Amino acid sequence: MSPDAIPMSTGRYGSNAGQPLTRRDGVLKVTGRATYAADNTPDGLLYAVTAVSTIARGRVAFLDVAAAEAHPGVVAVMTPANRPPLFHDPEEKMPPFGFRVEVLQDDGVRYVNQPIALVVAETLEAATEAAVLLAPRYAAEPARTDRASGERYAPPAVGVGGSPRTAHGDLDAGFARAARIVAAEYETPAQYHNAMEPHAVVAAWDGDKVTIDMPNQAMALSCAAYGAYFGIPAENVVIRSPFLGGGFGSKAILNGPQLLAILAARQLGRPVKLALSRAQMYGPVGHRGQTWQSLRLGVDEDGRLTALHHHSLSATSSFDDFLEPAANAALPLYASPAILVEHEGLRLDTGTPGPMRAPGEASGSAALEIAIDEAAEACGMDPLVFRLANYAETEPGSGRPFSSKALRECYAEGAKRFGWSKRPLQPRQMRDKNGFLLGWGMGTAVFPCPHFPASARATLRADGSALIETAGADMGQGAWTALAQIGAEALGLDPDQVEFHSGLSTLPDGGVAGGSGHTASAGLALHEAGIDAIARLTELALNDPASPLYGAGNIGVTARNGRLHRRDDEARSEAYADILTRAGAREVVGTAKSARDPAVAAAHAMYSHGAVFAEVTIDPDLGQIRATRLVGAFAAGRIINPLTVRSQYYGGMIWGASFALHEEAVTDHRTGRIMNADLAEYHVPVNADVPSLEAILVPEDDAYVNPIGVKGVGEIGVTGTVGAIANAIWHATGVRVRRFPVRIEDFLAV
Ligand code: MOS
Repeated sequence: MSPDAIPMSTGRYGSNAGQPLTRRDGVLKVTGRATYAADNTPDGLLYAVTAVSTIARGRVAFLDVAAAEAHPGVVAVMTPANRPPLFHDPEEKMPPFGFRVEVLQDDGVRYVNQPIALVVAETLEAATEAAVLLAPRYAAEPARTDRASGERYAPPAVGVGGSPRTAHGDLDAGFARAARIVAAEYETPAQYHNAMEPHAVVAAWDGDKVTIDMPNQAMALSCAAYGAYFGIPAENVVIRSPFLGGGFGSKAILNGPQLLAILAARQLGRPVKLALSRAQMYGPVGHRGQTWQSLRLGVDEDGRLTALHHHSLSATSSFDDFLEPAANAALPLYASPAILVEHEGLRLDTGTPGPMRAPGEASGSAALEIAIDEAAEACGMDPLVFRLANYAETEPGSGRPFSSKALRECYAEGAKRFGWSKRPLQPRQMRDKNGFLLGWGMGTAVFPCPHFPASARATLRADGSALIETAGADMGQGAWTALAQIGAEALGLDPDQVEFHSGLSTLPDGGVAGGSGHTASAGLALHEAGIDAIARLTELALNDPASPLYGAGNIGVTARNGRLHRRDDEARSEAYADILTRAGAREVVGTAKSARDPAVAAAHAMYSHGAVFAEVTIDPDLGQIRATRLVGAFAAGRIINPLTVRSQYYGGMIWGASFALHEEAVTDHRTGRIMNADLAEYHVPVNADVPSLEAILVPEDDAYVNPIGVKGVGEIGVTGTVGAIANAIWHATGVRVRRFPVRIEDFLAV
């Protein structure tokens, strides 16, 4: 089903923004009618399969191309020897989210699962079999996949263009006057996105134009990038991404396999489909890189921070630079007069990491929140009291005011709901009814509020309905529902009267669905487009002597329930449909291209905040750990849809539990191979692992973050949760674990 066919609404609670409407795409998804990229099978379709390396470093010495080509049904075998040229050098990054793309530019092998050939055939089976027949031989070199063998370097940037080092105040003086110093090292593993839907693509060329079905979190940027690689204007690239089966950051970045499939379709003059296997997603499509983080905290006699030093050694590939900006977690939260954050890079023979579920914040907060707990313990203070003693009233270092910060309320409401006041200060004090050790811990959640430039169009039609459009991406977060609510509100209509088109690159650019900034960014564009449409409609009425609004001019009108009302006399009103019909207009169209006001942004620190409280139980004999209860209280500006926002918080907290207790890609350092590159052995939480969840929506007005007052809710839930669970584990056992995921063997004989 195309994005044009998304039904108008499945909501049933009422009208405007702020209502818990159910998802517009929900019925399509649960009935299997939502089509994902790989569900498309255009006429004449060919199937592509990548052959991937089984070594981590070296060179492909031989591929049996003849055997693969001779296999029945095989149409083409693409290798570095015959790969058609590209118009942009894949070794050169394409800003702003560009990475070095691996598209068979040489015979080098830089990680396991790197594509080394692309086989295209009439059937998926033929392509799969022929890829095996390539039987590569390698000139292998030893894998460098652990901390000891990797090469350390000083990075020019971390994350996406972030500063690797930030210093505020006098660190040495801060430590010199500290009554206590707490210092430790924390380790986080490599994690892989593992979206349910694999990276898939169906590409069909028509002359110099290409239509690409693919899950995509950043359509306009991708069109521009593909245009550059293929030497065609960006507008000749049409991306259709109506549904995504999860993204988690990995579908915002271009990758080699998809680019190769599109290239093959052009070369062969037929549509080509490629869908990576689960194992093939452990390499060329990004992951969360490992970190080793050192934290050093100085505290005075009253439990106030005097110095905070956060250093992260973050792993990346041998050939590109994305580094988990983990240490930046120490910047926004705690009021230390001296803060130093530093990053160092570690080059390993892995695929290049990339953004994944709160990149930087998740890993960094995991370490920082344990360190804060350790500092509270050293001071003999309750962890919540300690955090309140170090509450930042303004952004640490910069001193900028927060655009809004209801974190104190989050602490209070979360603690109350959880029952935190009954927590014994010392560890190992509580048992559950089974005799299991029981512990309570907490963590602070924080996530910045990025804003991407975005455009939108709003069309009011003569029948009283409306169409709103922006090229956004809904990877499950509920964007279609929330964005439609924002558009409907600006138009003074019920969401049921508003059709929403999205997920298609020919629509106005909805910006990036990432950084938890999509609702704010695309939402602001829809809001402004709606206001523009209403302004145009108002002009028609004000100039028409037959309208009850004629001459309202400076007094102005308001738009609600499909009618314009005079502000000074609400009874004098007219329906949109009547205004348009009398004017002989089929429709009025409003447009907007919106961005954040740079002066307002520079003057304020903008973050969503929250507090997460966790309960765990641990079997003292077996060491088995269960997260049993999570209560999160979050303040994220204006809440557009409490139902989908709550789901976002639940999702974030579940991924937090996943980080704390489950996820880890385990590498055999003898070969550089990931030993659990599948969903059976790479653990993510299943229903039985998910604790009782509660998410409290703490009210917060924000007059600065953007004109609609919306902050982000997608990633913040991960950030406080990891530390909260680790701290609860300490509280249950008295054992401080500083390496994730926390394992059974950490508790043998506690
Ligand atoms: Mo996200 S990691 O910003 O898609």
